[in-house]
Amino acid sequence: MCGIIGYVGVKDAVPIIIEGLKKLEYRGYDSAGIAVYRDDGFFDVVKQKGRLAALEGRLANHPTQGFMGIGHTRWATHGEPSDANSHPHVGNRGKIAVVHNGIIENYKQLKERLEAKGVCFASQTDSEVIAQLAEYYYKGDIMETVVKVANRLEGSYALGVMCVDEPATLIAVKKDNPLIIGVSKHGNFIASDVPAVLRHTNQVHYLDDKEIAVLKMDSVQFFNMDQEPLQKPLERVTWSLDDAEKGGYPHFMLKEIMEQPKVLRDTIQSAINGGKNKALIDRLDVAAFDKIVITACGSAYNAGFVAKYILETLCGFPSIEVELASEFRYRDAVINGKTLVIVISQSGETADTIAAMREAKSKGAVTLSIVNVVGSTIAKESDFCLFTAAGPEIAVATTKAFSTQLALLYMLAIRFAVRLGKMPQATERDLVEEVASLPDKVEAILGQIDAIQKFASTCVGYKSIFFIGRNIDYAIALEGSLKLKEISYIHSEAYAGGELKHGTISLIEEDTLVVAISNCKRLHGKIMSNAEQVISRGAKVLLIGNHSEATPDERLSTILLPEVHELFSPSLSVIALQLFSYYVAANKGLDIDKPRNLAKSVTVE
Ligand code: F6R
Repeated sequence: MCGIIGYVGVKDAVPIIIEGLKKLEYRGYDSAGIAVYRDDGFFDVVKQKGRLAALEGRLANHPTQGFMGIGHTRWATHGEPSDANSHPHVGNRGKIAVVHNGIIENYKQLKERLEAKGVCFASQTDSEVIAQLAEYYYKGDIMETVVKVANRLEGSYALGVMCVDEPATLIAVKKDNPLIIGVSKHGNFIASDVPAVLRHTNQVHYLDDKEIAVLKMDSVQFFNMDQEPLQKPLERVTWSLDDAEKGGYPHFMLKEIMEQPKVLRDTIQSAINGGKNKALIDRLDVAAFDKIVITACGSAYNAGFVAKYILETLCGFPSIEVELASEFRYRDAVINGKTLVIVISQSGETADTIAAMREAKSKGAVTLSIVNVVGSTIAKESDFCLFTAAGPEIAVATTKAFSTQLALLYMLAIRFAVRLGKMPQATERDLVEEVASLPDKVEAILGQIDAIQKFASTCVGYKSIFFIGRNIDYAIALEGSLKLKEISYIHSEAYAGGELKHGTISLIEEDTLVVAISNCKRLHGKIMSNAEQVISRGAKVLLIGNHSEATPDERLSTILLPEVHELFSPSLSVIALQLFSYYVAANKGLDIDKPRNLAKSVTVE
């Protein structure tokens, strides 16, 4: 959701910024812009509604260069996508240029006050108020100005700021929005995310809230809001540039689906003896809690929903709740020091999930996060953090991060069961072996790609596709439905099989597809009878699962999955569901990696 890149160094900033913006495209955007500090002491600002290619077109007609600049991809919140509303915003006097991610909640009051003093606004955005306020305050010291401005802002922000009077100084500050500082031999960077700087460096500082970074060509300094210097560690990013490139695949989503055997192996390994996550899982004394609450958004919530079934079955834990973070944050949930709150987030920056975590902490709960992005807010603020080893996930629709979240949740549940005295060690060994067998089984499903692609190509015309399952198959049906709707734009809902007759079955007619998931042996019969009910009303059924007795016919198609312990079957079902969604969307020729209206990291409420 919005992307920032800034550079000050010895090279031309323009190609570096454009390339960095391309690496941030996955975050979702509808316009883009760049401001460059020119040698003659002015800013060149080029902004364009639409894709980066359109901005590049504008730059081709309006070439510019300089050793310092800031760039931005905007995902509209206040004001429509337009050239004027794009960032960077520059103050009336042309002195200060700003890029902003986040939302300024008190922008109306600030704007009214500035307008009363004669300041004219050029956009409908909340962000412009930052540039105008900065110019209003500026008395010759840009860092002091940024501190003054930040102290007046309510809401969330990551800012990149340049001033024409201070030619080789790039300032960054953040609150509740990510910003990293990259350090390279030829110059220094600010960016919303690591992939934007990976071509130049893997050495980064993670900026914390209310910290200011002052970047020059050959130095980076940090300060607190009292302008006192801070020491921050320089960290080495382990992701490689290849991890953040498409590597010959037509879409990041397909590449990320195909990476799942590897990232699952890495993640499972991290939770087995000697692994980093194992040490942490072992430290958690689950017996100290009388309630577990899992909270997250979107697919991460679906992973949590799967985990509820597993924790219940393996640990017999008395109270396990799964709650959408956007709801949990405003509920008066009864939680206290005896509650373990598990927070799941790929990005570690989802605004609702952060708020839910903070709410839980304020009530004394212990927070355990499962996060993919090192240095992210949730990773830093939670009491304990398990890292998924998914590597950078670029496609907006999550695939490999979801799978690795499930893997860690399985390992957590198994360990909790042992700690609670509910599982003998021999069973623990067997179950860990089952989890460790998942990457090979995922590989086997990826081997069926042609059959799934062929079936998906017949599905582009459906107006509605329903997903049903029972028990843990219902939990993963939710993820299948979400995946399909977000990238194919086909209406879709997921239901517990038993719920069909309580309303939904009235929607079943000729030209409806129902995807039925069936991995729970004791419930095969039930889900098959649901399938028969919809087939007799004109629907077609795609059966996904290890139900080898089902015989395909013209109304029933099947994707047969390898045998695995029922509790871990979501990890196999989801691969078939991801491939199905991917190929439906691919056959519709859609922009799969950047579906309309969606952003990768939802940093606003
Ligand atoms: C769906 C998807 C989203 C995210 C959700 C939470 O494919 O990717 O539903 O799961 O926005 O994001 P994170 O995990 O970054 O907190």
